[in-house]
Amino acid sequence: MEKNIVLGITGGIAVYKMVEVASRLTKENFEVYVIMTEAATKFVSPLTLQAITHNPVETDLFTPPQTYDVKHISLADRADLVLIAPATANFIGKMARGIADDLLSTIILATGAPVMVAPAMNKNMYNNPIVQDNLNYLKEKGFTIINPASGYLACGEQGQGRLPEPPVLVEHIEKQLTSDDFEGKKILITAGPTREPLDPVRFISNYSSGKMGYALARAASFRGANVNLISGPTDLPPPLGVNIVRVETGLEMEKEVNKVASDCDIIIMVAAVADFRPEARKNKIKKTGQESLQITLNSNPDILAKRGANKSEDQLLVGFAAESQQLEDNALKKMERKKLDMIIANKINVSGTGFNSDHNQVTIYTPNMKEQIPKMNKRALADVLLDKIYNLD
Ligand code: CTP
Repeated sequence: MEKNIVLGITGGIAVYKMVEVASRLTKENFEVYVIMTEAATKFVSPLTLQAITHNPVETDLFTPPQTYDVKHISLADRADLVLIAPATANFIGKMARGIADDLLSTIILATGAPVMVAPAMNKNMYNNPIVQDNLNYLKEKGFTIINPASGYLACGEQGQGRLPEPPVLVEHIEKQLTSDDFEGKKILITAGPTREPLDPVRFISNYSSGKMGYALARAASFRGANVNLISGPTDLPPPLGVNIVRVETGLEMEKEVNKVASDCDIIIMVAAVADFRPEARKNKIKKTGQESLQITLNSNPDILAKRGANKSEDQLLVGFAAESQQLEDNALKKMERKKLDMIIANKINVSGTGFNSDHNQVTIYTPNMKEQIPKMNKRALADVLLDKIYNLD
């Protein structure tokens, strides 16, 4: 069922970012209701947000309602979540004191939905002890505070006070609305390719984008897990709430895995680790007119197989297998050889799926079942895979 999000926008320069937040949420099928304070309407017109959300934007407690609902009560009841962003120092002060003198402050007192607050202001205002006291008080009362980001502020200074970027705010909303069924679980995920240097300027790698591993890390973190993501080089932003360690080579990945693996309840290895690494060369390989070049490759450790050999009894170990042929046969052999509780296999020659794609089509194998999962985007697939892993437990 679609969720109703109330975006409460108060008057700060960062109001413009809320246009993108509203747009992203609407595209992700949330029903978005915007309430603006009068000051907020000086920065962006309500019409813009109305056009984006396809819902009337409310600004005033006393305009005649379009329905016979009592406006502040019906929106307060309907909300699954309220996000106040940007939240000015003034509005934070009003919330902390329980003042209800406009539509938005009234709704906050009337709603039973979780309320998230994203302060954005000048760094000195943000650090002012009165503002900090008010934020701590709201936290104590069950509000979720989204800390402002650091960087360039509209006043020309540098410091903490920026409203986080729209994708980050959307992630906070999605995380808040997700059930915490992985709460208390420690999960280790490897993702992305590795790069094995040939010389100081060249490397051997593969087409892995890291999207599947990052989607799993994001979903597990949203579902309450404590996630360690060990990632080869990718362009992807780190998912919200995930402890990320970035590595380049297979050997580095193995070292980082070894630091945390024995402490984890679930290990999911998605990384496309290069099976071989060139013998290290200190200097750049020069062309000297020869027809061909011989490169010696040494095998990399199989990180997953080593975890299988050292796995404790209550630890779950999940691997991936990308195969060009004999999918089932190869996947089953890998599951047995690496002592896995589950293997997720996909064919690499299906167009629009797999490496670098946003979609994947996989078959899940455990020692006693097989299940084909229809093609879907990697974010949705991540939740399906976590459901299956949850049921293994
Ligand atoms: N894996 C790993 N360390 C490696 C190689 C693979 O941890 N050095 C993990 C991957 O993260 C994935 C699974 O093992 O979960 C894939 O296994 P495998 O297929 O052996 O990797 P391939 O290199 O594709 O093996 P093969 O060449 O035999 O198909």
